Order: sequence, then structure tokens, then C-alpha cells
Amino acid sequence: MKAPTPSFVDFFAGSGLVTQGAKHACVPVWSNDICPKKAAIYQANHGDGHFHLGSIEQVRGTEIPMGDIVWASFPCQDLSLAGKMGGLAASRSGLFWEWLRVLDEMPEKPAVIALENVVGLLSANGGEDFRLLYQALRERSYKVGPMLLDARHWVPQSRPRVFVVAVQDHLDTSHLEDNGPNWLHPEPVRKAIAPLDDIVFWSMPRPRKRAKSLTDLIDWDAPVFEKARADALFSIIAPSHRELLDKLPRKQRAVFPGYRRTRHGKQVLELRFDDLSGCLRTAEGGSSRQFLLLHDQSGWSARLITPREAALLMGAPRTYKLSTSYNESYNAMGDAVVVPVVKHLVDHLFLPICRASQLAVPQLVANKWPSMMAS
Ligand SMILES: C[S@@+](CC[C@H](N)C(=O)[O-])C[C@H]1O[C@@H](n2cnc3c(N)ncnc32)[C@H](O)[C@@H]1O
Repeated sequence: MKAPTPSFVDFFAGSGLVTQGAKHACVPVWSNDICPKKAAIYQANHGDGHFHLGSIEQVRGTEIPMGDIVWASFPCQDLSLAGKMGGLAASRSGLFWEWLRVLDEMPEKPAVIALENVVGLLSANGGEDFRLLYQALRERSYKVGPMLLDARHWVPQSRPRVFVVAVQDHLDTSHLEDNGPNWLHPEPVRKAIAPLDDIVFWSMPRPRKRAKSLTDLIDWDAPVFEKARADALFSIIAPSHRELLDKLPRKQRAVFPGYRRTRHGKQVLELRFDDLSGCLRTAEGGSSRQFLLLHDQSGWSARLITPREAALLMGAPRTYKLSTSYNESYNAMGDAVVVPVVKHLVDHLFLPICRASQLAVPQLVANKWPSMMAS
């Protein structure tokens, strides 16, 4: 008999990359976000039947159809090093507590919960914030296992993120656990969990070798800066990086991504030389956009990364619909979750858990929200 398809709820869904990573195997039944621009991208790709535009503060858990799997990528600004690190007590990352209120109001609890955020979640307030999050889930009878996954294993982008996967205590998941830390639990995870009891060490296979390099994803025909703008950018390359660039063998295609930063009061362009993009982020809050220095047979050129390149770096399919505005597309990709990372979790952890617990899309959803089932 074919296994029933789990239902999927995507809180803080943004432009829909989490749903994209889950929908090959799950039915998206509900999702939300406060940002109308990201909502437009979400709906263009996944339909508008199950998307709720508005603040989590106005959401009532009783209105949400039952989700076997619930995902929440709550805002990261107060947990990222670039932010002020106010942690889970601050207004944006503190929306975690609003999400928890909604979970408490949901009449049927999900089998699987996945929380995603920046690595700062593990260390904010000396680890106290992570302990509070862990405790909140334990008090609700979930076993809890954090992991750190860097998207570079799937796409040519350095993007380490924390994924906390919580599963209802009574479900037997022993076949998906290790006795101690594995590749999913590098030092920042080990440090965060050291004072905690009952941590679950989830086990997943390593991904296969990444198929594409950054050079492969580049649109070599995209328009580049005119000479004066390119020269201005080349003139602020960090001196040690300039030396490395000058030593490069010529006549080959190569790409060097970089961000402009202020060092000792001066603007410098800091480059990467490992054929990986730096972590994409939103330009909101003043962080700069990623530049690309390109080298081919005709010499050097420079430009901003294109929105399509950003989407490919997030593992979105080439057909994923973006906005016609550069900024809207770039910002939407900058705080999204990398699609094949979500897919890896779905395929190797969430589905086996759902299968083991014989979960189905409940009849309640099919009867009460037929439009959601159709979209
Ligand atoms: C880390 S991003 C999640 C991105 C999303 N998972 C994706 O893959 O595109 C956090 C999201 O929370 C949304 N957000 C911020 N405040 C919110 C609120 N009060 N209610 C609902 N969503 C909110 C932001 O618009 C943003 O899209």
C-alpha cells in the first residue's frame, strides 16, 4: 500500500523555498508571512489557496489545518552576528514565542517540528536562548535534536544554518538516531548541548558530491558594470586579495565573489577564492550586496550577482518565479532556506518518521479545506 502523504505547514514561509523543498513528498496545507513582496513570490510558485498574509501575532492555532510536519524559520536578525544579538527576548527573533503560542493553540500537534535559524541561535546570551527553546519543546513532550548543516554540501554557497528537529516523544525514532555526535553535530552544536539532557542525535546520510561549482552557475552573458564603476570596485580590493588575483593564471574562466566591508574606516572589497559564493543575505539593514569579479578570455569585468544566480545558489529550480524588481528578488533569496537542504531533511528524516508513525493527511483537512488540498 502506498504510504499516505504527510501534510506540511510552513510558518514564516517568505518566498516559499522551504515549501519548494518539501512539496515533492508532502502536501502544503498552510503557510504564512508578513511581507507582501515575498508573499507574491510564494503565491506565484505555490498558489494562493493556502497562504496567509499577515503577522504571526494575529494567527490563531485553531484556524490552522493539522500539519504532520510543521516548519518555522523564524526571523534571525536578533540572533545573527550582524544584528545586535538581542536574542529570543528581542522583537524579531522573539516571534519564536508567538509561534509557540500558535502551536499550543493547534488542536492536533504535529509529529515533526523543524526550526531553522542562523548559527547564533546556539550561542545567543551564552547559550541560554537555545536552552529556553529546547526546554519549551521538551515541556510539550517533544524529543529535540539540533543539527548544523552548511548548504555548501549541496550548492556552491557557504551558508551554515541550525536546524532543530523535534519529534513527539512517543514516536519510535531509534532507527534514525545515533548514540552520540556525528557529522551533523560540529563544535557549536556540541557546545550548546553540553549542559542539556536527553538530546537526540539525529542521523542522516551525507549528501552526494555537489554537482555544480559557482563557475557553472554564472550567467556569463549578464550585463557587466561600465569601466569607471568596475575600476572603482577593483581599486578597493583588499591588498592581500589583490596579490592573489594578480598571481592567477590567465585565459581561464573564473569568478570571485566579494562583499564590500568597512575596515579601519575604509571601504574594502573582500573576495573569496574557493569557488563558493559568500552567504547571501538581505540588503535590508544596510548589509551590502554581493559583487562578482569575473575573468575570461576577454579579461576582467565586474557586476552584482543577478537575482537568478541568487536563486540558483539557493537551490531553487531555474523555473522558480521571482519578482521583476532586483531588490525584491535579491532580498527574498537572501533570507530563504536552501531547497536541497530542506529536501534532504524531508527525505532522510521527516518522511521516515511519518512513515513509522503511519501518519496520513487527516480527513479533517480534506473535508474542511478542499481548496488547500487542490493547490
Ligand atoms: C528567515 S525568513 C524565512 C524565509 C523563508 N523560510 C524562505 O525560505 O523564504 C523570516 C521570515 O519571517 C517573516 N516575518 C517577519 N516578521 C513576521 C511576523 N510578525 N509575522 C509573520 N512573518 C514574519 C519575514 O518576512 C521573513 O520572510
